[in-house]
Amino acid sequence: METTLIILKPDAVQRGLMGRIISRFEDKGIQVVGARMMKISPELAATHYESHHGKPFYDGLVNFMTSSPVLVLALRGVGAIAICRKMMGATFGSSADAGTIRGDFGVSNSFNLIHGSDSPEAAERELGLFFKSEEILEWDRASEGWVYDLSGDEPE
Ligand code: RTP
Ligand code: MG
Repeated sequence: METTLIILKPDAVQRGLMGRIISRFEDKGIQVVGARMMKISPELAATHYESHHGKPFYDGLVNFMTSSPVLVLALRGVGAIAICRKMMGATFGSSADAGTIRGDFGVSNSFNLIHGSDSPEAAERELGLFFKSEEILEWDRASEGWVYDLSGDEPE
């Protein structure tokens, strides 16, 4: 099982798309194990996006991410990091495939609705930035045995 850090960015919250985006993950069989609505501080945005520091889009990105509340989610599943990235689609709304969140809900190359961790290392780091360990909940999902085949050693 992997846990990944997802942020529904200010445009997703302002446009009233939170429910529809969360539904996509729930419909897929991904489990919500953490949720936190917050306004990101400039300091936290800078830490979160430190790998982009100095790039031409960096200042605009930090301004955007701190401009209005976001919904931060911890999502869990087998292969959840790659599955969520695939469901998000390509970075720019103008080129993201139809059927993806960015492809279906946006056209902008700046306001692209959603962030998702891109590796296990990034997920661990980003979950630590946005959640205290006790805010990520281990809970038994009633549908688990129908989402996964649990008859073997690992969920399939
Ligand atoms: P994210 O980190 O937000 O999940 O997005 P990503 O992996 O698909 O894209 P990344 O390369 O990590 O870029 C982070 C965010 O910066 C903005 N961006 N603008 N104008 C540009 O060339 C440009 N490139 C990136 C986007 O908001 C992107 O999500
Ligand atoms: Mg990224």
